[in-house]
Amino acid sequence: MVSRMRTRHFAQAKAEGRKISCLTAYDAPTAAIFDEAGIDLLLVGDSAANVVLGQDSTLSITVEEMMTMATAVARATQRAFVVTDLPFGSYEVSPAQALETAARFMKSTGVAAVKIEGGVEIAPTIRTLVDAGIPVMAHIGYTPQSEHALGGYVVQGRGEAAAQLRADALAVQEAGAFAVVLEMVPAGIAGEISRELRIPTIGIGAGPDTDGQVLVWTDAFGLTRGHTPRFARKYADVGAVLLDAARAYLADVESGDFPNESESFGDEK
Ligand code: KIV
Repeated sequence: MVSRMRTRHFAQAKAEGRKISCLTAYDAPTAAIFDEAGIDLLLVGDSAANVVLGQDSTLSITVEEMMTMATAVARATQRAFVVTDLPFGSYEVSPAQALETAARFMKSTGVAAVKIEGGVEIAPTIRTLVDAGIPVMAHIGYTPQSEHALGGYVVQGRGEAAAQLRADALAVQEAGAFAVVLEMVPAGIAGEISRELRIPTIGIGAGPDTDGQVLVWTDAFGLTRGHTPRFARKYADVGAVLLDAARAYLADVESGDFPNESESFGDEK
């Protein structure tokens, strides 16, 4: 029996200078593969809106859609720490709203923590969740749920904005977050914040000096259709493998080569 990653293991990893590996996951088969590979943390990201559901932004994904995916991912893993995003509109109204939504996920999906976006302004909400026994991963820098307020898909924390980023990082740490995602921020400030914080920083487009890294798996392994961010190294071309497999199947069906005798049932018992 493999033992499950816990929040304390992330604190230990930071203390020992061991990098933390994170990937998104949205379904059981890929979650099982990433778990078998030894990825420490699987994030059921609301990026599912874009890369699984074909939507233009993360804004429209629902609590019910996220719960279905979170349940599948949690069920398929033995070791990885599973975190789910709370979707846009399900936690910003008040700490009480956030607690109600987070409790739904914690009761019925099997995830170990929730992730919410925002810095100083969301700190009281993080505190409420943590006080209720729910581990929270914070997310600052570029926060996709605020894409319109941020003026689009742009790097955050440059120049004078670095002070706000640092204040956000400190606020989520003091509110009790066990880790914080730093998305699309300059490598220099990401490294400085990582050294200043007690909690681990998990970077995405934040350079090499964060305590861990996260990527949207479809970007990293070649399944995203359309735009992939330039910071996402491509480790495989799963899309090309699937395309070849689908074409081979099509050809075999059309030619009558599939199914053959051993792939069919005879009359004998
Ligand atoms: O939804 C997501 O996949 C995320 C990662 C980009 C961190 O929030």
